[in-house]
Amino acid sequence: MASGPYAFLGGEVVPLAEAKVGIMTHALHYGTAAFEGIRGNWNEAHGKTYIFRLREHYERLVRGCKILMMELPYSVDDYIRITVELLEKNGFREDVYIRPLAFKSEQLIANLKLHEIESDFALMIIPFGSYIDNDRAIRCQTSTWRRPDDTIMPTGVKLAGLYTTSILAKTEAVRAGFDEAVLLNMDGTVSEGSGENLFMIEDGRISTPAETENELLGITRDSVMKLVREELGMEVVERKIHRSELYLADEVFLTGTAAHVTSMGELDSRPIGTGDVGVVTKKIQDLYFDVVTGNNEKYLDWCTGVTPGGG
Ligand SMILES: Cc1ncc(COP(=O)(O)O)c(C=O)c1O
Repeated sequence: MASGPYAFLGGEVVPLAEAKVGIMTHALHYGTAAFEGIRGNWNEAHGKTYIFRLREHYERLVRGCKILMMELPYSVDDYIRITVELLEKNGFREDVYIRPLAFKSEQLIANLKLHEIESDFALMIIPFGSYIDNDRAIRCQTSTWRRPDDTIMPTGVKLAGLYTTSILAKTEAVRAGFDEAVLLNMDGTVSEGSGENLFMIEDGRISTPAETENELLGITRDSVMKLVREELGMEVVERKIHRSELYLADEVFLTGTAAHVTSMGELDSRPIGTGDVGVVTKKIQDLYFDVVTGNNEKYLDWCTGVTPGGG
């Protein structure tokens, strides 16, 4: 039997190289899966990996499972335990990306009735550095692809099938020489990035698309809203945002598990503010980074500390 790294599949820990599913798996054909992307941030001084808002990620996974009519024998507490144990066993001493996947696992490719198809849960953990360059302000393009409306596909949870849109948008932007795409709603208002939520700052006021604007209800979005209100004493307004408001904003930034807090310096060939990382964005980046790496005592309850090898 191969050794680590290890994954979790079919109710047990197995070597990642042996964690396999068949080609008739329903989710492979129809995107019938809910997943999460969670970061574990290695803190060398503490000798621990801090998993950021683990409970909230699994609560969102469970919401996705409910929508996809998946009945799995695990509670949120079970998922947390399985994740901590797997991370301990893998023993990484670096930043990691944690990928839980609840999927329609039955070998059934001619059945479109969710309630008749069995599900399974898989968990993978991989070493993961930066996803997007956070030290500079990135260049973005409004996508020709639109963020689907929740009447087309549920948007607030991470359903695998919906990611085809994000992937088309990201690929289009990168092939055109940009770093990231901004997706508009069907009505032309702003929804989010291909894998990030979006915030704009104008006249000292921070705005972000409201929960009804079809974006993923991001955990970084929620964390940043709390940090901004609590630590910077600034107001955050959730509302509809017009695309042209972004062109005229003082600062725009994106938030996400993978992207952390990333400054947007240009949209559709127009500089945003100075075109560089804005002053407020920088403050939020620094604050957020301290929190997710377990270096801010006040927010330590957002972090699950895991020691490699356990103990
Ligand atoms: C489409 C989309 N929007 C927003 C986000 C940010 O969500 P979170 O902060 O929970 O990672 C992500 C990342 O998972 C995403 O894929």
